[in-house]
Amino acid sequence: MKGLILSGGTGSRLYPLTYTNAKQLIPIANKPILFRVIEAIRDAGISEIGIVVGSTEKKIREAVGRGGHWGIEITYIKQEQPLGLAHAVKVSRDFLGEERFVMFLGDNVIEGGISPLIAQFADSDWNSQIVLTRIDHPEQYGVAMLGDDGKIVQLVEKPKQPQSDLALVGIYMFDSNIFEAVDAIRPSYRGELEITDAIQWLVDNGFSVHPFIHRGWWIDTGAPGEMLEANDLVLEEINYEIEGYVDRDSKVGRRVSVERGAEVINSIVRGPTIIGENARIINSYIGPFTSINYGVTIENSEIEHSVVLENSEIRNIDSRIQDSLIGQSVVIARSPIKPKALKLTLGDHSHVGIL
Ligand code: G1P
Repeated sequence: MKGLILSGGTGSRLYPLTYTNAKQLIPIANKPILFRVIEAIRDAGISEIGIVVGSTEKKIREAVGRGGHWGIEITYIKQEQPLGLAHAVKVSRDFLGEERFVMFLGDNVIEGGISPLIAQFADSDWNSQIVLTRIDHPEQYGVAMLGDDGKIVQLVEKPKQPQSDLALVGIYMFDSNIFEAVDAIRPSYRGELEITDAIQWLVDNGFSVHPFIHRGWWIDTGAPGEMLEANDLVLEEINYEIEGYVDRDSKVGRRVSVERGAEVINSIVRGPTIIGENARIINSYIGPFTSINYGVTIENSEIEHSVVLENSEIRNIDSRIQDSLIGQSVVIARSPIKPKALKLTLGDHSHVGIL
């Protein structure tokens, strides 16, 4: 079996972070979402993975490389235009050949334990397996209606009036019959070749599509709030370890990781929280559900329920920073220079919430 990860898109809802980074590379609990996806596929025993890339190809290649780090082989497949998930399958045909494969959206974060499900498909005689989950606003996703026998009756992409609360999670498994399906469908109202329509084509043409209902959490990240929510959930799942230095004046909770070379000096850190390599936390409070990436300095400040990316600095801030997503090499500091005012240098599409 092979793996196919879709990692295109501009990530416009995450501007300005995605001006300099691909959205799939934004870390959740200090590890890029895309790496989590690669590891879930590798853990299913798959060693050949294709990554479909668009305009952010360079960033993704730089971060992921050829896969040796994970003991797998990565092939990059260019999708010149974002014409839909079924179009991504079309452009990957040479890579996939006749093998069964799992397709995973590179910005989806799902509760652990999905790997056995992928491995199970390899040995099944189903033509496809889809993953569904019950959610509150199914109209934003592909929606599945199942019959009394549990079989798929209909799949509709972003229906105005959903007939069920079962959304299609961004994990799909196919055999090579999907190629006939993606060739047969026409673009949707949004001008894309929808994978949902291709799966409906399989159902209509008598192929077996097995619906698996996932009972854990699942987040399709794309906006800052979703990133923070995914960060909360992943921080609940990881193993904690203190590898860095914590001085005797600091109080560090049980579910806190302090990575190599990091220092916590005269500070309180409440978990679940992760402090990345070579970060420095001095005279500060780090509250629950916070991911501090490598090389960050936090001094005389308080922060909680936030994500801070690499090499940023937060110094001498009186108000507690909360519910925030802070990019790379950002500086937030008190300025001694008069007049006493907020002095901001912000990227386009930045969001600042002031009390
Ligand atoms: C895509 C699929 C949709 C699926 C969703 C999962 O939506 O078209 O059926 O439910 O991914 O993340 P898109 O992200 O393209 O709006």
